[in-house]
Amino acid sequence: MKNVIFIAPPAAGKGTQSANLESIGYEHISTGDMLREEIAKESEIGLVVKDIIAKGNLVSDEIVFKLITNKLSNLDKPFILDGFPRTIKQAELLDELLNNLNINNYEVIYLDLSMEDAIKRALGRLTCNKCGASYNKYYEALQPIQEGICDKCGNSLETRSDDNEESFKVRFNTFITNNEPIKEFYNNKNKLHNVDATLSSDEITNKIKDILK
Ligand code: AP5
Ligand code: MG
Repeated sequence: MKNVIFIAPPAAGKGTQSANLESIGYEHISTGDMLREEIAKESEIGLVVKDIIAKGNLVSDEIVFKLITNKLSNLDKPFILDGFPRTIKQAELLDELLNNLNINNYEVIYLDLSMEDAIKRALGRLTCNKCGASYNKYYEALQPIQEGICDKCGNSLETRSDDNEESFKVRFNTFITNNEPIKEFYNNKNKLHNVDATLSSDEITNKIKDILK
């Protein structure tokens, strides 16, 4: 199976699509989730990144690249990268790492979503800190059966510290500033695929599966 790299604005559906693909045997590697785990553990990294993430700013390339290197160097499954690379420097570091690991069978999926749609998704998002499931109060198909409770594990649902209008705008603008050179980098390698992220979650998954065939 081909490996997958998602590049997409905040709340475009990277996590949702990764969860859909996990069921067919992928390892989901989300830098955002890894950093939130560090915050929950109150580790050294967690203490450094807590405020940076809440404000919607990027963590340093060094911190995230270390997390990614550890994960990718110890894998026995095809992977999905969700949230990495986010700067051209990260794309170059990843390229070097994949070359060293002899990995070239990957595709880069760009989930294309406007700021207007993305902000609605971010402000409506509810997440389960126990099992990682994600819901949305603004979309009927994505609401939990019982309000505020995770369908999968029964835990209470929460709003992420960066899912407020102010942090969202920082995240979105940071994405817009950094993303063009990353797209160009992968386009030059003939790896880039554009997917319309306004479609339903299942339609998007089917389009991604077609690209990975
Ligand atoms: P991260 O956790 O990666 O946040 P993000 O990029 O802002 O993306 P999100 O997780 O918000 O959105 P998503 O695309 O996963 O969407 P989801 O599927 O949840 O990063 C957080 C922070 O960590 C960063 O801001 C930064 O500080 C730091 N960080 C992480 N990586 C870094 C890096 N490489 N370098 C530096 N710093 C880094 O969907 C969103 C909502 O929409 C959900 O409610 C979902 O149910 C709903 N939804 C999903 N699909 C659909 C659909 N098709 N239709 C309608 N609703 C949908
Ligand atoms: Mg996510």
